[in-house]
Amino acid sequence: KNEISIGLLGLGTVGSGVAKILQQHQQDLHHKLGVQVSIKKVLVRNNNKERLSILDPNVFTTDIDEILNDSSLDIIVEVMGGIDEAKRAIEEALKAGKQVVTANKDVMAEYGHDLLKLADEQKCDLFYEASVAGGIPIIRTLEDGLASDRISSLMGIVNGTTNFILTKMKKENMSYETALAEATRLGYAEADPSADVDGLDAARKMVILSSLAFSTEVHIDDVLVRGMSEIQDGDLEMANNFGYTMKMVGSSKKDEDGIEVAVEPIFLANSHPLASVNNEFNAVYIYGDAVGETMLYGPGAGSLPTATSVVSDIIAACRNLLLEVNGKRVHSAQHERVIKPESS
Ligand code: NAP
Ligand code: HSE
Repeated sequence: KNEISIGLLGLGTVGSGVAKILQQHQQDLHHKLGVQVSIKKVLVRNNNKERLSILDPNVFTTDIDEILNDSSLDIIVEVMGGIDEAKRAIEEALKAGKQVVTANKDVMAEYGHDLLKLADEQKCDLFYEASVAGGIPIIRTLEDGLASDRISSLMGIVNGTTNFILTKMKKENMSYETALAEATRLGYAEADPSADVDGLDAARKMVILSSLAFSTEVHIDDVLVRGMSEIQDGDLEMANNFGYTMKMVGSSKKDEDGIEVAVEPIFLANSHPLASVNNEFNAVYIYGDAVGETMLYGPGAGSLPTATSVVSDIIAACRNLLLEVNGKRVHSAQHERVIKPESS
């Protein structure tokens, strides 16, 4: 094989970044893999929008089945968002024996366990690094880097939009509405930003991280979710006056009673490392028996940072294809009791 062909579902914030990196890093990719990696088809909703000039105008379609039924494509990259259509696309692609990469935390939090099982059955890979914390390689860290350790808890800022809003409100005295509009303009917010501000996006990411950290199945209903609406007038000022910073924090811990997962706005002492994670940046603290404390930090949203993770997944998918080891991963999820933290 001297070429690997990609079908790209979506050319918005993330999809455009993927197309740019694949084009700009073409030679490095060829050097790393020994083959050409090319985008052969791109799904969009509106074919009349102006598109990236680096892409051949003939690659565009508004018909998802034209891509899903194309047997010449090796990898399907799902960056269209939403749940039902995206889930169907991932399933169809896996059933057709294709490698799949997705940035979709909504689908992975809701159906990730079933989809990973389907990928195993189909001898395909399903990679989802970009689904949590944009450009931070947190999924691989939990799956591989810390595989030797027994993780006891995670704590992190995993939503760029709310962190951006809280930073702008604190440091620039910006209104909530202006900061949210700016986060949307910069491509950080979800298509429906209520998922960000109500804590659902962070809760979905904590489901994915907790399932990996504790090798179990955590579900969205297991997570206690409190959104930004819980922040009262004057909270930010009070926090400032007393040496604290308000942050939306996801936490997940495991003890002899089970696993507790929550997302909520909390006051962090300014000396806490998460208190100085600003703008769209994310950070995840991991506590392991052997490693002790370790923290990953980086851009949590945005076009090129997120696309970096997607393209790294594409490289992993290509490598497995070329080595003919696709679908040969070992998953060992065991069910454990998940308890909801006290909601008072
Ligand atoms: P976006 O900017 O809204 O782009 C979505 C793209 O998909 C657009 O090109 C859109 O077409 C196309 N599309 C959507 N639904 C479609 C449909 N039913 N049929 C045909 N085309 C469709 O979204 P995004 O910000 O790139 O996010 C994509 C995914 O990545 C989401 O799952 C999101 O949660 C995830 N993610 C985003 C970020 C981030 O920073 N933005 C970070 C990590 C993960 P048109 O161009 O014609 O509208
Ligand atoms: N809307 C998400 C965020 C995008 O703000 O973190 C990255 O997952």
